[in-house]
Amino acid sequence: GSTSRFQICCIGAGYVGGPTMAIIAKKCPTIDVTVVDISQRRIDAWNSEADLPIYEPGLKEAVMNTRGKNLFFSTDIDGAIEKAHMIFVAVNTPTKKDGLGAGRAADLTYWELAARRIAKVAKSPKIIVEKSTVPIKTAEAILTVLNASGKTRFQVLSNPEFLAEGTAVRDLESPDRILIGGNLKDEDGTAAVEKLVDIYSHWVPRERIITTNVWSSELSKLVANFFLAQRVSSINAVSALCESSGADVDEVSTAVGLDSRIGSKFLKASVGFGGSCFQKDILNLVYLSESMGLKDIAEYFHWVVKMNDLQKERFVSRIIHGLFNTVTGKRIAILGFAFKKDTGDTRESAAISVCQRLVDERAHLDIYDPKVEESQIWQDISTASKMDRLELEKLIHISSSPYGAAQGSHALVVCTEWDEFQDLDFEKILSIMEKPAFIFDGRNILNHEYLRKLGFVVYAIGKPL
Ligand code: NAD
Ligand code: UGA
Repeated sequence: GSTSRFQICCIGAGYVGGPTMAIIAKKCPTIDVTVVDISQRRIDAWNSEADLPIYEPGLKEAVMNTRGKNLFFSTDIDGAIEKAHMIFVAVNTPTKKDGLGAGRAADLTYWELAARRIAKVAKSPKIIVEKSTVPIKTAEAILTVLNASGKTRFQVLSNPEFLAEGTAVRDLESPDRILIGGNLKDEDGTAAVEKLVDIYSHWVPRERIITTNVWSSELSKLVANFFLAQRVSSINAVSALCESSGADVDEVSTAVGLDSRIGSKFLKASVGFGGSCFQKDILNLVYLSESMGLKDIAEYFHWVVKMNDLQKERFVSRIIHGLFNTVTGKRIAILGFAFKKDTGDTRESAAISVCQRLVDERAHLDIYDPKVEESQIWQDISTASKMDRLELEKLIHISSSPYGAAQGSHALVVCTEWDEFQDLDFEKILSIMEKPAFIFDGRNILNHEYLRKLGFVVYAIGKPL
């Protein structure tokens, strides 16, 4: 593109950087967008004619229509930084594995490396947009790193992303709100905020674009994920009560959710929430609270994650108890491995914990997922399990169809709510399973009454037997 056009660079071509930039490019044809990454493999995949590195409904069309016109994917990070007027940083910010705050605090290594790169390369003023989810006060720290070079002026804005996987394109095209945090007390800060508001105004109604100070914006992202995850953990806590009392958790959540103050979304009881962010962001809040001396507040936040761990464990216990207190040597079909439907992403998927625990008990697993790569399943279970790959290969098989997985199994375990599981031929499945044939529905998506009539023994989350 010509240098007179407004130039955006995005550092990090992942689940957030890729789709977000594809939609900006689609909605703003007068802006050039270059997405860069250190991973050559990822960039090659974004540039390929075959499969993009991530699967999202509608994403491929958006990329194909803009790629090579005003959307570019490259590993030339320095070149893209140099010519950019605005730089989004959408690198990963996982939970720290070692050192201070290990297991809770966010690991900002990638963020800081990106910032140092910008400081090194930039010769002209730039607006830096914090897209990654980060602890409160990160923008401030990053500004210090950037300004230390003294070469040029920077503005740092916070612009957290609220998209959910599986609906990324829809969420980006019609977001509930766009949140922009900046230094509104300062003229340059306000101008930078306005510049970003301009970009979103290409397609987002102005009243949905809200501006705040930087800290409110950073904190709001963590708090939004806390509230969402809290609802899942709360209804999952209720599901335990239902299993012991004869109440039906789906009936309870419908009844409760009809109160307009509560609302019906995010009240689906499940085997537990997964995904790359809920746990990480809540642990981040726990760490922030603790480091500010707010122990009780930290404990309150922490219970949302602890409840989720309990829920996964409760589900595994139900499987083992249901199968006459032993699964050793039994064949179990695992339906779904992704952390939710319509994505191939498995990060923190409840299926990983369920499989690891069942393998610990020496069950034989046959796993089917319509979107997750076989190599990903092996990698996730190998990482979670104490067993080595050779041992695991004796216990795990991966099937390319749900019927293949069900063949000869004692139980079907639903871990992901893929729509296609509702339409399976259960008469056929019953005929190829060992008897009694068990179903453990970790997502409450199957027609339990019908399955019981066919002859299955059905366990579901938060339902009487
Ligand atoms: P991701 O791992 O899919 O992508 C991050 C990319 O950044 C990787 O491709 C990595 O190679 C690249 N990278 C890392 N350091 C780099 C560097 N110094 N220079 C260039 N490239 C570098 O991560 P993601 O899921 O896209 O998440 C990114 C951020 O967005 C995280 O902070 C996350 O919390 C947040 N977020 C994620 C989601 C989601 O649904 N996944 C939604 C909202 C917010
Ligand atoms: C979540 C948030 O919804 C996004 O707004 C946020 O931007 C994103 O995290 C992030 O920061 O990364 P995501 O993790 O992609 O998005 O998916 P969700 O739809 O939120 O589902 C998370 C998990 O909760 C899934 O495992 C899902 O199956 C589970 N869930 C969700 C339930 O068990 N019950 C529900 O009622 C809803």
